[in-house]
Amino acid sequence: VLISGSGTNLQALLDACAAPSFPARVAVVISNRRDAFGLERARAAGVPAVWIPHRGKTRGAFDAELVAALQGHGVEWVCLAGFMRIVTPVFLGAFPQRVLNIHPALLPAFPGIQAQAQALAAGVKVAGATVHFVDAGTDTGPIIAQGAVPVRDDDDEDALKARILAVEHELYPRALRQAVEGRLRIDGRRVVVQPSAS
Ligand code: GRF
Repeated sequence: VLISGSGTNLQALLDACAAPSFPARVAVVISNRRDAFGLERARAAGVPAVWIPHRGKTRGAFDAELVAALQGHGVEWVCLAGFMRIVTPVFLGAFPQRVLNIHPALLPAFPGIQAQAQALAAGVKVAGATVHFVDAGTDTGPIIAQGAVPVRDDDDEDALKARILAVEHELYPRALRQAVEGRLRIDGRRVVVQPSAS
């Protein structure tokens, strides 16, 4: 799991992976920021926590370091969870169709930063979260799952963020389970989810 900040989505993934029936475990957590609280969450869960700074490096060099660290921990799937860097083709090529991201908007609306503020500014009545495969664009890859929340008349950015985060924490572990169970088939822009065997 790659993070840059608080890591509440990381926590949701750690909690899901702690269940013996969950078909994945978190092999390593990497942050580009040393002070990311998510690194504490990883340590508390007994998961290796690695800081790889991006400053002073080209995107390609930074990504090569990330790939080496991930491969060194035997990683098969990568979850971006509040990781505030764009990954390059170097990175995507090392994990083809195995990089997921969560975004706090109903994509393709409001990609990029401050998605919740974008939603408020646009006056939408429904907001939400999206888990998607990562491609070379910003929040443009095929959509795996979405969850919607109402936008209330008295919402500010923090209130809307919190409501969306609650949905994110349900959505991401569920999508990861489908991914690692091999139940996601990419068909152009669409992701088809095969039913669970059980
Ligand atoms: C989440 O809103 C996620 O959708 C976005 O960044 C935020 C990360 O929050 N990509 P957290 O660090 O998981 O609490």
